[in-house]
Amino acid sequence: MRMYDIIEKKRDGYKLSKEEIEFFVNGFTNGTIPDYQASAFLMAVFFNQMDKEETIDLTMAMLESGDKLDLSKIEGIKVDKHSTGGVGDKTTIILAPLVAAAGVPVAKMSGRGLGHTGGTIDKFESFDDFKLNIPEEKFIADVNEIGVAIASQTGDLAPADKKIYALRDVTATVNNLSLIASSIMSKKLASGADAIVLDVKTGSGAFMKEEDDAFDLAKIMVEIGCGVGRNTIGVITDMDEPLGFAVGNVLEVIEAIDTLKGEGPKDLTDLCLELGAHMLVLGGKASDIEDAKRTLEDLIDSGKALEKLKELIAAQGGNPEFIENYEMFKKASIVKDIYLEDEGFIQKIESEEVGKAALVLGAGRETKESEIDLAVGIVLSKKVGDYVGQAERVATIYANDLDKFEEAKEILTKAYIVENKEVEEKKLIKGIVYENNIVKY
Ligand code: URA
Repeated sequence: MRMYDIIEKKRDGYKLSKEEIEFFVNGFTNGTIPDYQASAFLMAVFFNQMDKEETIDLTMAMLESGDKLDLSKIEGIKVDKHSTGGVGDKTTIILAPLVAAAGVPVAKMSGRGLGHTGGTIDKFESFDDFKLNIPEEKFIADVNEIGVAIASQTGDLAPADKKIYALRDVTATVNNLSLIASSIMSKKLASGADAIVLDVKTGSGAFMKEEDDAFDLAKIMVEIGCGVGRNTIGVITDMDEPLGFAVGNVLEVIEAIDTLKGEGPKDLTDLCLELGAHMLVLGGKASDIEDAKRTLEDLIDSGKALEKLKELIAAQGGNPEFIENYEMFKKASIVKDIYLEDEGFIQKIESEEVGKAALVLGAGRETKESEIDLAVGIVLSKKVGDYVGQAERVATIYANDLDKFEEAKEILTKAYIVENKEVEEKKLIKGIVYENNIVKY
């Protein structure tokens, strides 16, 4: 087999065999296929697509490229949650203790990605001394004992994805349905959960700008998961404006704690209840979604969800006092309010631009080597549909460098579109993709 022929076949729009896809994945992972051929191949896939069978074959080849986490020593149905990525998404910090408090074991292992802000792993580092690099034995023991553990990846899960994703990132081939689906699902399947809830975002701050594309992406991922015996569902959710108010690591952790105290923003709370409810149903801890939501609300109201977060922080060496005393978190040296020139109803807050502003401040990683500044970021004061009057604050920027503050301010103020007309309320949850059924709201 020759890589040249495989590239040519896909370039000309033909379907690839399982063996050809495996040849590419194995050869690129072990270094016998060079970047230039892999780039050409990815661009051919980008333009000519892969069908369902090819996408499944690609996912399986990527899954088989590395280690698989064995969670069989953890009792109960392990349910994982994955978001396709959005601005201000801090749902895992809320859902891990919340769902664990309801009795669903949460064994969360994830990597450090690139992005506008850090990933979940980075955000948990906001709690001083919280150890993410824990041995697999402790990880499993903690889940069995307190119901939840969060760790940075130990084994080499889906190494093919790491190499392919890095190349996609620099060859403008990220935004393809088969490539995204195989990338996410190879990692999820390698992470060992029995069931998976996928939060598939759509809107300006998401990979899938169009709702129909988000449903298509969810459908193929659900088919891949269910096809290998992992009960998987996809929840399609809005990412036309940032989720909640906070964007930035410490700032998002504080907002997540507020949400566990029952004082979080409405959109973030609603999304967590929806995703958490599906996790409870898949985990066999609730009979239906409404019953599950009531359970989750009770756990928030009674303080049990917050207690579970404290247990998690303490079990991994962190200081749970941070949860009651936000002054203990790292602080930015520059804190300034942001105003707009226009007055009226906020029609749009371009998530992508808010994310860029956070990145400029240092909240995320531009390259793998970038250092994250945990304290910086943005807290919005207004959301889409709100009225902003003259001299009314729309956001606060937290920075540690004046030049970066100025740059972020310029990007952020352009993210707002304000007009003198009221805005129709948009649905946060757009629909659910089940194995044999799609519900659109
Ligand atoms: N997240 C991933 O892990 N992979 C993609 O391709 C896109 C989002």
